[in-house]
Formats: sequence, structure tokens, C-alpha cells
Amino acid sequence: MKPTSKFSEHIHEHCRVKEYLNLVKGPSFLIPSLCFTLLLSFYFLCGSNTLKSTFERGDYHVQRESLDQLGNRRPDNEKCDLSKGRWIRDVKEPLYTNFSCKTLPHHKNCFLHGRMDRDFLHWRWKPDQCELPVFNPRSFLNIVKGKTMGFIGDSLARNHVDSLLCLLSEEETPQEVYRGDEGGKTITWHFPHHNFTIMVLWSQFLVSASEMVVNGSATDSFHLHLDKIDESWAQKLPALDYAIISAGHWFFRTNYVSEGGRFLGCIYSHDPNATYLTPDIAIQGVFRLALKSINDCNNCSRMLTLVRTFSPAHFENGAWNMGGTCNRTSPLAPEEINYNGVEWDNRNVQLAEVENAHKLGEKRGRTFDVLDVTGAMSMRPDGHPDVHWDPFWAKGTSDCIHWCLPGPVDTWNEILLETLRRHASEDVKN
Ligand SMILES: *[C@@H]1O[C@H](CO)[C@@H](O)[C@H](O)[C@H]1NC(C)=O
Ligand SMILES: *[C@@H]1O[C@H](CO)[C@@H](O)[C@H](O)[C@H]1NC(C)=O
Ligand SMILES: *[C@@H]1O[C@H](CO)[C@@H](O)[C@H](O)[C@H]1NC(C)=O
Ligand SMILES: *[C@@H]1O[C@H](CO)[C@@H](O)[C@H](O)[C@H]1NC(C)=O
Ligand SMILES: *[C@@H]1O[C@H](CO)[C@@H](O)[C@H](O)[C@H]1NC(C)=O
Ligand SMILES: *[C@@H]1O[C@H](CO)[C@@H](O)[C@H](O)[C@H]1NC(C)=O
Repeated sequence: MKPTSKFSEHIHEHCRVKEYLNLVKGPSFLIPSLCFTLLLSFYFLCGSNTLKSTFERGDYHVQRESLDQLGNRRPDNEKCDLSKGRWIRDVKEPLYTNFSCKTLPHHKNCFLHGRMDRDFLHWRWKPDQCELPVFNPRSFLNIVKGKTMGFIGDSLARNHVDSLLCLLSEEETPQEVYRGDEGGKTITWHFPHHNFTIMVLWSQFLVSASEMVVNGSATDSFHLHLDKIDESWAQKLPALDYAIISAGHWFFRTNYVSEGGRFLGCIYSHDPNATYLTPDIAIQGVFRLALKSINDCNNCSRMLTLVRTFSPAHFENGAWNMGGTCNRTSPLAPEEINYNGVEWDNRNVQLAEVENAHKLGEKRGRTFDVLDVTGAMSMRPDGHPDVHWDPFWAKGTSDCIHWCLPGPVDTWNEILLETLRRHASEDVKN
């Protein structure tokens, strides 16, 4: 059901759109503006400083490894929790560079935009109970050959795909075979030698959402329908063998939430007449519906669905538009992380929904699991572009949301490969 304008007006009375949401807007047909608009969503998050203001270089145990130890690491424990660990020193260079990766996007190419420090590349994620193998593009392509993998979400899902394309291009160059007409929000790449297909399916809320228009101008506030899936991705499900699904950053703004025609409340509105909602309430509803849609999909195969958990931002000394930056050059230790921040609320509701969906999915041959990156990425304030993204769009604004390529975001694909490997070996056993 499309909201009638009467309904929109009605809920608008109950959560007034904050004026500052109109302050900055980029043209909506260009990709960089998507990421610029995304920065807007951090207005609120930035207020709550998620990092300790006084930072001391972690005196945690720094381990150095020689190159020959890095070759064929295999997790010694198949059940080991990949989400708990720390970043340790690593001498090896990243698998790709801004020369070798032809698909590396302009605004994640931090070195092109003047980033000088390189130390942030020399850390690897070490789970407490095992080793995480170095990304091996050949192993990855062998597991996924003949299959189709869809990445569903916002510009951070795209960041994940961009990292994967760069890593895999060391083995086979991806070919772009489809680009939707909405400014590159839907793109398909194919690896002909492995007949592997990657799709990126843009959906910043996963559910049906309409931008609120007040007096003829867009407001950057959205009306979310927790009972109505965003068909733009859901209709593609029958084509997928793997769905990597994520969302989060667009919920950090004044959004209106309703379900079944009933108005539930507003995110971040202090209007006394409206129920105040925090982003995790909406995120929980959205993931519940998204995973249910996958479970209920009649035409879908035995899909593996992985929820990539919330990816934290790291603005310090101010909000994104108030001079906030992220110019650290090394990781934090687990002891330095604030585990009470909003990113943990988001991640926790995501885990709960995956667990429920997994129980329901077992009978239907659907498997649900997580790529739980929230902890690892909380420790990487040094991994964002900061001011090194795009001089035209940046205009002195720091991007502390997305991640440099190469950089710590490549670890998401090491976790993805290890997760695929575990599920593939379970399939062999069954
Ligand atoms: C790659 O990064 C270097 C700096 O490390 C920069 O000088 C160069 O222009 C970049 N090349 C490309 C193709 O982005
Ligand atoms: C490639 O994979 C698709 C499924 O993704 C399949 O339909 C097709 O037959 C495969 N083509 C070849 C040449 O194996
Ligand atoms: C819409 O425009 C009218 C007339 O210009 C004005 O009176 C009203 O306050 C505006 N409403 C909002 C919500 O800005
Ligand atoms: C809240 O609702 C009451 C009664 O409808 C109304 O008088 C009041 O102006 C509203 N307050 C706000 C802040 O909208
Ligand atoms: C699902 O399968 C049915 C019958 O095979 C077909 O009619 C329908 O179009 C399919 N739906 C989608 C979304 O592919
Ligand atoms: C990092 O940014 C802060 C402002 O947030 C600034 O005071 C500081 O000088 C910067 N450090 C470096 C090394 O650029």
C-alpha cells in the first residue's frame, strides 16, 4: 500500500522534520552523492562519541610473523568464533594495489587522494581461538563456481563488493555485464572462467520506503513500512545462491515508521506526541521481514544467507558536518572499545533475527549465518578515507563511514571465504 498523501501529512504532524536535514543535498543521480547523502545520516551518531576521547596507543601484545608462516593457515577449530579477536601486526602487503585492481572506485582510492600513511595496511585480524586464513581468490572462486551471489544493502554493501572484486581480480578479471539505469545502484559482474556472478542490489532500508516531501521539497526523512519488503531486491532472490545482506546507516535520521497501516513512531524525534524510536527498533523489524521473505520465497534454491552486521563509523572531535575527523593511523585494542554504543544495539538485534530465521529455515533447506564484523571494525578508526576521498564532494568533510581500498574492509572477505568454506564442508558431510 502506497501511503496516501493524507497519511503522510498526518504522520508529519507527529514528527516534525528537522530543518538541518535540508542543509546539504547533492544531486541524486551521481554515486558520490549517495555517499555524501549517507554522511548526512551520521548527524546523530556523531553526537555520541563512540570512542574514548583520550586515546593511548594500545600496549597490547604486538606479534610479528614471518612471511613463510602466512601461506597455508587453516583454522584449527572449525567452530571458532571469528568475531572475537584483535588486530595484530602483519608484514605482508595487501593482495592488490590501486594499480592492479581495475575496478577500484575513485572515492575509496585513498592513496590517490593523498593518504600518506601506510601502516594501517599492516595488521591482520586474529580471532582469539584460531587463525583466519589469508584471502585466497582461487579457493573462493572454486567454492562459488557456477553460482550467483547477491550483495543487498547500501553503499557499505557496495564497499564490500568493491573489496571482493579487487581481491578476486588477482585470479580472474570481473566483467561488468549489467548496470541499472539508477546511477549504478544495481550492477552485475561475471567471472566467465568460473561462471560466477556477483550482483549488487541497492536497498538502503531493505523494506519499502518513501522519502517525505514537504511543500514540494525532499526532506531526507523517509517513511518506512516494516510490513512491506522492498521488491527491487526481493524479486531477484530466485536468481541467488548466496545473499549477503546488510543495512544500518540510513536509519540514523528522523524516519517515520509504520506497520500494517499503523503508525508506530519516529526515529530520533523529540516530538512529545510521537513515540520515540531508536534505530535498532526499526533495524530489528526490517531484518525480521527481510529474512522472513527469504524463508518464504517459493522459487528460491537452497540459499545461504549471510547478514553482515553493523559497520561502525568513527567521527571524532565533532559530527560529520562539524569538523569531525578520523585521522588515526593505527588500530585500537579490544579493551579500548565501548561495547555500549549504538552499533552494538544494531548488531545484537541482527544476530537475534538471524538466529530466529535459521530455526525457521532448517526445514526449508535455507541456511542463515552472520558475518559479524562489528567488533573487528570498531577497532579500526584508521581504516576510513577521512579527507582522502574525493576533493570535489568532500570539500573538507571527512568520510569516516566507508573504508579505504585496500584496507581493513578486505577482512570482511576473509571472514566471508572462511564462512563459505565451513558451510561447503557441512554440505559435503550431509
Ligand atoms: C595509486 O596510489 C599512488 C600513491 O600510493 C598514487 O600516486 C597513484 O596515482 C595511484 N594510482 C592510481 C591508478 O590510482
Ligand atoms: C553458468 O551458471 C548459471 C547459473 O548461475 C547456469 O544457469 C549456466 O548454465 C552456467 N553456464 C555454464 C556454461 O556452465
Ligand atoms: C509549507 O508552505 C506553506 C506556505 O508557504 C507554509 O505556510 C507552511 O508553513 C509550509 N509547511 C512546512 C511544514 O514547511
Ligand atoms: C501534541 O498534540 C496536542 C493535542 O493534539 C497539540 O495541542 C500539541 O500542539 C501537539 N504538540 C506538538 C509538539 O506537536
Ligand atoms: C515462481 O515460479 C512460478 C512457477 O514456476 C512462476 O510462475 C513465477 O513467475 C515465479 N516467480 C518468480 C518471482 O520468479
Ligand atoms: C587530526 O584531526 C584533529 C581534528 O579533529 C586535528 O586536531 C589533528 O591535528 C589531526 N591530526 C593529524 C595528524 O592530522
